[in-house]
Amino acid sequence: IPVDPFDLVIFGGTGDLARRKILPGLYRRFWAGQVPDGFRIIGAARTDQDSDVWRDFVREAITEFVTEAKREPETIDAFLAQLHYIPVDARGDSGWPELAEMMRGDVTQAFYFSVGPGLFGDLAERLQRFNISCEDCRIVVEKPFGRDLSSAKALNATLAEHFDEQQIYRIDHYLGKETVQNLMAVRFANVLFEPLWNAQYIDHVQITVAEEVGVGGRGGYYDKSGAMRDMVQNHLMQLLCLTAMEPPSRFGPDAVRDEKLKVIRALDPLGQGDIVRGQYTAASGEPSYLEDVENPDSRTESFIALKVHVANWRWNGTPFYLRTGKRMKARNSEIVVTFKEPPHSIFDADAGSRANVLSIRLQPDEGMDLRVTIKEPGPGGMRLVDVPLDMSFADALGPEAADVPDAYERLIMDVIRGNQTLFMRGDEVEAAWAWTDPIIAAWTERGDRPLPYAPGSSGPEDALILMHKDGRRWREIA
Ligand code: BG6
Repeated sequence: IPVDPFDLVIFGGTGDLARRKILPGLYRRFWAGQVPDGFRIIGAARTDQDSDVWRDFVREAITEFVTEAKREPETIDAFLAQLHYIPVDARGDSGWPELAEMMRGDVTQAFYFSVGPGLFGDLAERLQRFNISCEDCRIVVEKPFGRDLSSAKALNATLAEHFDEQQIYRIDHYLGKETVQNLMAVRFANVLFEPLWNAQYIDHVQITVAEEVGVGGRGGYYDKSGAMRDMVQNHLMQLLCLTAMEPPSRFGPDAVRDEKLKVIRALDPLGQGDIVRGQYTAASGEPSYLEDVENPDSRTESFIALKVHVANWRWNGTPFYLRTGKRMKARNSEIVVTFKEPPHSIFDADAGSRANVLSIRLQPDEGMDLRVTIKEPGPGGMRLVDVPLDMSFADALGPEAADVPDAYERLIMDVIRGNQTLFMRGDEVEAAWAWTDPIIAAWTERGDRPLPYAPGSSGPEDALILMHKDGRRWREIA
């Protein structure tokens, strides 16, 4: 889909997200020939420096975060030539007239708020007051979008004072991941799965987002947040929604988001027995969570497992088990749909029978795997085994398909195209907080402490028991 020429202003242009994701992502799209002639990227931040110094910063970011095969010096130079920098004070008025002067009226304009939510209001107000924003310019905001329902409502209200909902692009980068979009393709572009996609045929769904890294240098933010706010309220909730939602009437922004919203609103409140929270301990010279966040009394969770019910006709009786954590066995994220066993077996009881399992791997090795039951080859009579119908994108579609674009690349291009399908709407974010708030409030009131778990494990033992007591088990994190 063609992209029109644009001016993209990145507030927080010298920050970590710009360095690690936004700028390398834009460069990769440029390298792939998908950025139109006549684009400009304007870095804006408090640091008083000129465009050349910022270009050096971007060159270093490209060197660090873009693979060597895509780093031809001429391409990098051509990209950097389109970059400009303006020192702008988000809380004062300096730099704004210069920014106003710089913007072109005849191209798509987008403003990326890659700054803390505390500055959203200041930026929005000045964009308007200095006549920089226009009727169809786009605003991109990052998570955390609030830390509870009331702060999310306040942020939505602040943005709504200056922009229409159609102009606001709330990023959840999980929606930009290739496999997450593939989940929609698998569900809605095949007749094979949708007729079975309900409680009658699906026993349960597991969603795991396991990370090997700890909270590292982000302890200050993370300790006030925890896995529920940092990962479940947004990323895991989005994966749950795309798995559980009704077919939208078309792949368009409101059609998709309306269906996701219905899922969030259908979630049952959680009881104490549906939740397991954990905190990683120290191991082989690596600090514990408490040491990482420098708070020996912290009750914040670095791991959480939940048993969730989508209380609607389609899913009645099919639980969704969610878990996510830091310092786990491996970086491994997947959605696993376990079907029920056939209602009646025509084979001997000792032939063995197994349920079909569809797993959608998000990372590290994007792909899909469907386990089907067949006869074990050989003359030994009817014995059943399950074998994978495995599709690694790289194997099926050739090596180029292994070069999966980073989530940010796709999402930033969607902003320029004006396509909000993969962005969260304000009411969706609020509904997600409305569900998480009472859960967090309950454990906070009780003063619950997370359970310790060893780094490199699958989380606390109780998370395994959460499924065992239902006669089910988590897939290995490998
Ligand atoms: C972020 C969280 O939104 O997602 C981080 O704040 C987490 O804590 C990250 O590490 C995970 O993203 P990805 O793309 O590496 O799975």
